[in-house]
This record gives sequence, C-alpha cells and structure tokens, in this order.
Amino acid sequence: MPAGIHIKNLTFSYAPDKPVLNNVSLDINPGEKLGIIGPSGAGKSTLLLHLNGILTGSGVVRIGETVVGKKSLSEIRRKVGLVFQNPDDQLFNPTVEEDIAFGPLNFGLSIEETDRKVQDTLRAMNLEGFEKYESHHLSMGERKRVALATVLAINPEVIAFDEPFSSLDPAMVLQLITLINGLEATLVIVSQSILPLISCCERIAVINKGELVAVGPRDEIIKDRELMRSSGMDLSFYTKICREYFTE
Ligand SMILES: Nc1ncnc2c1ncn2[C@@H]1O[C@H](COP(=O)(O)OP(=O)(O)OP(=O)(O)O)[C@@H](O)[C@H]1O
Ligand SMILES: [Mg+2]
Repeated sequence: MPAGIHIKNLTFSYAPDKPVLNNVSLDINPGEKLGIIGPSGAGKSTLLLHLNGILTGSGVVRIGETVVGKKSLSEIRRKVGLVFQNPDDQLFNPTVEEDIAFGPLNFGLSIEETDRKVQDTLRAMNLEGFEKYESHHLSMGERKRVALATVLAINPEVIAFDEPFSSLDPAMVLQLITLINGLEATLVIVSQSILPLISCCERIAVINKGELVAVGPRDEIIKDRELMRSSGMDLSFYTKICREYFTE
C-alpha cells in the first residue's frame, strides 16, 4: 500500500501576520484520490508545496509515518512527486529526455531502466519524438505534459498534481484522466477544471481563504450548491451550455 497523508493544524504565512493557510487539518488515506478545489488565491498550491517540504509551516505534515521536515527531506522527495502548477518551475534540463531521465537516474535506476522509463512516460503523455527538443521551446500544453512525465517517471508513492489539466486539449485531458484512474499511488489533485477532477476523485476538499471549509464524498460536495457558490465554484452555467450543445 502507498503511504497516506496526515496534515494537522497546518498554518503558514509568506508575510508576517497574513496567514495563507490557517489551521488546516486533513487526512488522505493510502491509495486514495483526493481532489482539492477552491477559488484562485485560496492557498491550494501553497498547501501542496508543504507535502514534499518545499514549504514548512507550523503544525504537522506526515507522509505515512515520516514527518515532513529538514531531516526527512531526501526520504520525502523520494516518496512524494509534485507536478508544479507552472511547468517552468519543473523543467531545468536542456532537453525533454534529460528532464525526464533526471529523477530516475538520481534515484539509482540504471541507464537501460531509465531509458525505458523515459520512453514509457513519453508515450503516456503523447510526446514520442520530442526526446531531443528543448523544453523551453515547447508550447505550454507540451511543457505541461513533460512536467507530468518527469514525475510519472519516478513512480512515487504519493503524487500531488497542481492543475494537471490546464493547457491540455480535450483528448489529452481524457487520456490523463484514464492514466490517473489507473495509478495506485496516493493522489492529491488540485484543479480548477472541476469536471475532469470529478472524474478522478472519490473525495473532494474545498479550501477558501486558507481554510478547509469542507471535505467529503464528491457527490455531497459537488451537489451542495450553496457550498459551491459561497466558495466561488458555481458551475451552473456549464449545465446550460451542456444542454444546448452536448445533449444526444
Ligand atoms: N511566494 C509567495 N510570496 C508571497 N505571497 C504568495 C507567494 N505565493 C503565493 N502567495 C499568495 O498566497 C496566496 C495563496 O496562493 P496560492 O498560489 O497558494 O493560491 P491558489 O489557491 O493555488 O490559487 P490559483 O487557483 O490561482 O492557483 C495568494 O494570495 C498569493 O498571492
Ligand atoms: Mg495554485
């Protein structure tokens, strides 16, 4: 079983006296796929950055039995893969192939195993043929897919996806949903693309102004119109568009 995640009373500020996360407590079960939604600026990315120790606030974050902190950083980085919201924060090697190979080589895989991982993840992300391309020359959607590939290549126990569906075309969104649904890792997915998120996550947490305002089964959360509206997540305009254009 992959590790679960335990977050207890997490509070964090970038600037003094302006908490961006306020006393957040949340448990994510081993192998669960948890979605996190909330308006822009709510603190979702900030929360994800605590899962692999890029940020450390007050309170406790545990991955399995390991408390995230300075001493455990190398163990945590092995266990937790984070796909950044902005792919340019993820990609730093000259070519796509080197960016994807970096993690597996660093974690001790042989050249042959690494090559296989690179090919497998390139295929999964529809990036065959992009091996020698320079990452910074790629389109945003292509860079996003390379960023996803760099994390999938290391097969982490826990994966935190920050806006994985952004900039992807609809066919790729569907391919990624299928891939995510087949993963056995513990997943935390932050996304403003609520429809794909609903397709992946059994349980959904809502964050608003740095506070966890609700967490529960997706049916309960998404159908709670008042909760969705008060969290800036009113989706009712989609219903009208779908009825007009997508009914059989
Ligand atoms: N490095 C930083 N320094 C100072 N303030 C920051 C920093 N990063 C984020 N913030 C602020 O913290 C708050 C939460 O930001 P965060 O990126 O976590 O929001 P988010 O919920 O991920 O939003 P979005 O949906 O737009 O990605 C915002 O008000 C943001 O301006
Ligand atoms: Mg964000």
